[in-house]
Amino acid sequence: MIKMENVVKKYKGMERPAVNSLSMEIGEGEICVFVGPSGCGKTTTLKMINRIIEPTSGEIYVNGINVIKQDPDKLRQNIGYVIQQIGLFPHMTVFENIAIVPKLLDWKEEEITKRVKELLEVVGLDPEENSSKYPKALSGGQRQRVGVARALAVNPSTMLMDEPFGAVDPVTRSQLQNEFLRLQKKIKKTICFVTHDIDEAIKMGDKIAIMDQGNLVQYDTPENILFNPNSEFVEDFVGSDRSLKVLNLLHIETVLKRDIKTVKMNNDIIVLHNFFENNKKKRAIIVDDSNKVAGYVSRNDLIKGSSSKGWNSIIKPIPTTLPMQATLRDALALMLQYDLVAVPVVEDDNSLVGVVDLNEIRTHIGEAYQEFGQDEEGCSDGAI
Ligand SMILES: Nc1ncnc2c1ncn2[C@@H]1O[C@H](COP(=O)(O)OP(=O)(O)OP(=O)(O)O)[C@@H](O)[C@H]1O
Ligand SMILES: [Mg+2]
Repeated sequence: MIKMENVVKKYKGMERPAVNSLSMEIGEGEICVFVGPSGCGKTTTLKMINRIIEPTSGEIYVNGINVIKQDPDKLRQNIGYVIQQIGLFPHMTVFENIAIVPKLLDWKEEEITKRVKELLEVVGLDPEENSSKYPKALSGGQRQRVGVARALAVNPSTMLMDEPFGAVDPVTRSQLQNEFLRLQKKIKKTICFVTHDIDEAIKMGDKIAIMDQGNLVQYDTPENILFNPNSEFVEDFVGSDRSLKVLNLLHIETVLKRDIKTVKMNNDIIVLHNFFENNKKKRAIIVDDSNKVAGYVSRNDLIKGSSSKGWNSIIKPIPTTLPMQATLRDALALMLQYDLVAVPVVEDDNSLVGVVDLNEIRTHIGEAYQEFGQDEEGCSDGAI
């Protein structure tokens, strides 16, 4: 839990305070996203929480303890920090970067080795392949992952993440966001997350804090930021395409069809003929014995008779799948990109959970607008 009371930061030579009388509370296990134009005070706010910058006045509490009354080093051990621009040390390997704080705390060597390996796995990097690499040998997305691993090293209760996914392309960014949301479900840290990107804020935040020139303008749920902006500034910041942005709020779980019929990859192709005889479907999703997606077979391919050559001659790879954390925006983007009307949803190990289809999304979006108190057809920006 983080609580700020009338926090002010005045830098020398600056006319207005960089942060002006900021009061807010961030609940335990919540992600609060700070968003606002460049220079509005996001980084300054974060750095006051772990006392890299001392507030000019006001109080900040982390887990009920006043940060000013704590030893800064001790305080920072309990607060993971992912720095704007990643901030990996270029002369240190991935292993050494992640091991910095455990080493400072005099952890035993074997404990450090175990923890670094575990963290690399958590953030989706192969420890064998990556531990001894230097940051310059990593892609932007991989560097971001190492940054997150380093911040988690000593299992802090709280994380400060300053534009953690800022320096990567949109596809990698969406992947990192999904991975992080999945991770957060397990680790349930209290997180202050800074971004420039309102779409990212809507997707990641339990709450969103919109700042302007050092002031907290609105601190609210993503739904209220979108549909009940408290000022023209927030309305402009959200932009005119609310109907599209709301897609980031809606998770595929709500439209996921779980009870789908699949065909188990089997030596006897008769099961496939039976499937198409008993179902009107044009395609069958093929899974292996452990329910992992193997591909799909179309009715036409089967009728053409190539099935006599066995499964491998008729199974086609599924062009794309969705992870469980995906939003309707992710689903629609993939449907457009791959010209699909349905996308399979898989767990981390590629086992099939269900399917999301376009009709279901369409119906659900209509219902969601009503829930948010908007008339879908009458929505002035009418983007859908
Ligand atoms: N050390 C400093 N000395 C003087 N002024 C500073 C200092 N650090 C930040 N500022 C000023 O304080 C204001 C807030 O800066 P801050 O870095 O918190 O903004 P930000 O919202 O994180 O911006 P960005 O989105 O560009 O990262 C800016 O006007 C900046 O110029
Ligand atoms: Mg900043």
